[in-house]
Amino acid sequence: MTVSPDDGIAWVTGASSGIGRALAERLIGAGWTVAVTARRSAALADLAAAHGERVIVAPADVADAAAMAAAHDAIRQAGHGEVALLIANAGRYSPGEALAADAFRAVIEVNLIGAANTLAPVLPGMLARGRGQVVLVASLAGLMGLPGASAYGASKAALINWAESLRLDLSGRGIHVQVVNPGFVATPMTAVNRFPMPFLMPVEAAAARIVAGLASRRFEIAFPRRLAWPMKLVRLLPYRLTFPLIAASTRARR
Ligand SMILES: NC(=O)c1ccc[n+]([C@@H]2O[C@H](COP(=O)([O-])OP(=O)(O)OC[C@H]3O[C@@H](n4cnc5c(N)ncnc54)[C@H](OP(=O)(O)O)[C@@H]3O)[C@@H](O)[C@H]2O)c1
Repeated sequence: MTVSPDDGIAWVTGASSGIGRALAERLIGAGWTVAVTARRSAALADLAAAHGERVIVAPADVADAAAMAAAHDAIRQAGHGEVALLIANAGRYSPGEALAADAFRAVIEVNLIGAANTLAPVLPGMLARGRGQVVLVASLAGLMGLPGASAYGASKAALINWAESLRLDLSGRGIHVQVVNPGFVATPMTAVNRFPMPFLMPVEAAAARIVAGLASRRFEIAFPRRLAWPMKLVRLLPYRLTFPLIAASTRARR
């Protein structure tokens, strides 16, 4: 069963821009009170200024486990209820940076460990109540190795695998686990890309697809379908066919 605003509040990380911000606004429109986390507190305060009491501002760095536990405490103390819907969306991407070990670690610490730091303070309460919804925002880039994806692709592949594991562990305990695998969405993150991005989607359309998917029992919310399905089919092929196909279809990236 999916959760509703009657169950408590939503917590969205990475809500200062892009998909997270659009998701937060859409959830507010659907009747949710939304706790929002990111490092840029001014951008979060803008959301609160626009939506008043429906927004709980909880700035934190997701890579910092203690800061995320403190943010969760602050959200509870705001008195709007427990976190019923958790969307671990904060992410980091800098093309080309991830070949150095420190840069690789920084991407993994935000995209993967950051999601774990987000779930950690919330999960005990969800388990105690036997109810909750946990959504990890990964990427179609996590389905297979792509040129230049490096630490970003590896972090998203790990998130998909972790979400699969969580789904098996938690579905019998009243917690609905989903993974979101977007293709290219027009946000500050992709604005740095200098290669053609097939089927680039407006951020509002992406947020609408995600919110529609939240109401379903589906495990994976993947879009756009015309990119997701070919990638899934290519993934099924033997590697001797996969690599030439991927290399040919991403030639413009290099
Ligand atoms: N855009 C796409 O095409 C696309 C495709 C597939 C998946 N995704 C995924 O969608 C998610 C949102 O990305 P986006 O496209 O909306 O990019 P974005 O506009 O750059 O948003 C990234 C968000 O993550 C937050 N963030 C980054 N590092 C953080 C940290 N250490 N602690 C807390 N928050 C942090 C940023 O806030 P602060 O800078 O204020 O901390 C920002 O709110 C990411 O997980 C991304 O990998 C995006």
